[in-house]
Amino acid sequence: MQSSDLAVVAEGLRKRYGDKNALDGFNLTVPQGTVCGLLGPNGAGKTTSVRILSTLLRLDGGVARVAGYDVAKQPDKVRSRIGLVGQNAAVDEVLSGKQNLIMFGRLFHLNARQARQRADELLQQFGLADTGSKPVKAYSGGMRRRLDLAASMILAPAVLFLDEPTVGLDPRSRNEVWQAVRDLVSVGTTVLLTTQYLDEADQLASQINVIDQGRVIAEGSPTELKAQLGGDRIDIVVRDAHELPSAAQALSQLADARAVIDEDNRQVSVQVNNRRLALAEVVRTLDEMGVAINDLALRRPTLDEVFLHLTGNRTPVQKSAEKVNS
Ligand SMILES: Nc1ncnc2c1ncn2[C@@H]1O[C@H](COP(=O)(O)OP(=O)(O)O)[C@@H](O)[C@H]1O
Ligand SMILES: [Mg+2]
Repeated sequence: MQSSDLAVVAEGLRKRYGDKNALDGFNLTVPQGTVCGLLGPNGAGKTTSVRILSTLLRLDGGVARVAGYDVAKQPDKVRSRIGLVGQNAAVDEVLSGKQNLIMFGRLFHLNARQARQRADELLQQFGLADTGSKPVKAYSGGMRRRLDLAASMILAPAVLFLDEPTVGLDPRSRNEVWQAVRDLVSVGTTVLLTTQYLDEADQLASQINVIDQGRVIAEGSPTELKAQLGGDRIDIVVRDAHELPSAAQALSQLADARAVIDEDNRQVSVQVNNRRLALAEVVRTLDEMGVAINDLALRRPTLDEVFLHLTGNRTPVQKSAEKVNS
């Protein structure tokens, strides 16, 4: 891929706050016209990287190019090619959606007629045409976020940065924002989106970069990331919770991998590297042990499991498995 086909290239970015490395050798490449999901827990460095790439923050080391321009040496050029929706909305609550968009248009040096025309186009594009004349304070969370998106699109930017765009939204509003993002990508915009939500990355991103402690620790398509974790999973649900430890032990032996217990769901899961470990064998073994099974399934790993594996975060599921093993 030629470097001119890349909307974002970051190499070895560093940013310190006092003695804290917010970014610690951060690398990222985002091809044009795609959605890249930057997925990481709180404090991972997501906002810091977005602020650096959108020229709001100076980097301490490394190089970054956005839409073909160097963020440190050509910040004005970068700014003319990007849009940013931050964690806090910048729209005026008292004004209507349309008035807000006209105001942003004027800020970006459109004349009054152009600003009105662009506002109408954007209201249409983001499904706000009917509510454009209502004051923003009457908008739902999803409508507000769509107005934020519209405001960031005044100049039809080549690269759009969205920092946790659906935090605090109800599922319906979240779906509206997701659809708006898909629409943007369908007209050629490149989107770099940060999120803590696996399903959001899974839904929107063609490429996911997992960030933790200021660096990217894994990247790939959702499918590739799941494949990295290797193998399918077998889930069994036992009838009696007290059978969980012995079922886990049997599964661990059969699969030659550590089985994980989920007490709440009376479930044991294990990774099977060898697909030939047939479900039938599991059933037979548990049957011989006298363990009654309510449910049994073979499935692909979820992105949740990938994420937990990569970041080493502990969940109640893993903790209960440790209890069994110790
Ligand atoms: N202005 C700041 N001053 C000091 N520390 C900061 C500042 N901004 C961010 N940090 C620290 O840098 C790290 C990364 O923060 P941030 O980029 O906001 O993470 P994220 O957006 O992934 O939650 C965190 O440990 C955070 O506490
Ligand atoms: Mg943040």
